[in-house]
Amino acid sequence: MRLAPRARKAVLTVHLVAAGAWIGIDVLVAVLVGVGLGGGSDAVRGLALRALAEFVVTPMLVSALVCLGSGLLLGLATKWGLVRYWWVAVKLVLNVLLCVLIVVALRPGMADVGAAGVATEAGRLPATDISFLVFPPAVSLTLLAVATVLSVYKPGGRVRRRSQGAPRGAGRSAAPDMRRTLSEARPTFVA
Ligand code: HEM
Repeated sequence: MRLAPRARKAVLTVHLVAAGAWIGIDVLVAVLVGVGLGGGSDAVRGLALRALAEFVVTPMLVSALVCLGSGLLLGLATKWGLVRYWWVAVKLVLNVLLCVLIVVALRPGMADVGAAGVATEAGRLPATDISFLVFPPAVSLTLLAVATVLSVYKPGGRVRRRSQGAPRGAGRSAAPDMRRTLSEARPTFVA
């Protein structure tokens, strides 16, 4: 299945908006964590922590899943494939990894963060240590930056299928009969 050019552009637009929203939400998380753990009045720090606990995780997960879904569609229905090129395969792994981290590592900690926000606003010390909060935005922004660089530069390294008789570089040819030959061939991994 191949997407028609207009459909591909529509899906690519959704993909870029989702990726941009995800990065933006991560920047917001970094700001709220900085304010919540940093200096400032108890009221401001508590408010930042409560906002973090209440409003951030769901939009982050939604944008990550939309990015993943549109990326899967772009991979499956364009020349890029899902595991044909390393840059797409690596992005797939990063996106899935980050979605899992949001669900299993970030979301469960939000109740403690909200409680810490309430305690801080009341001028009390939080009952639990929430210093772990520095890691989610640092890890996520780093990996999303890597994914963006991979997307823009699309470094070589094709996970290529080549038949034994096919000439080198034949995989790059647009000839449909050659592509059929390649898809039937045994996979070989080329750096
Ligand atoms: C991890 C988060 C991701 C980010 C930040 C991201 C970012 C981007 C960006 C900026 C582009 C546009 C590149 C350009 O046109 O020069 C792009 C295109 C693309 N992305 Fe992603 N992406 C992500 C996840 C994924 C995933 C999980 C997949 C597939 C499994 C994927 C597959 C693709 C494909 C195939 C294109 C090229 C579409 C085309 O030109 O037809 N992306 N991505």
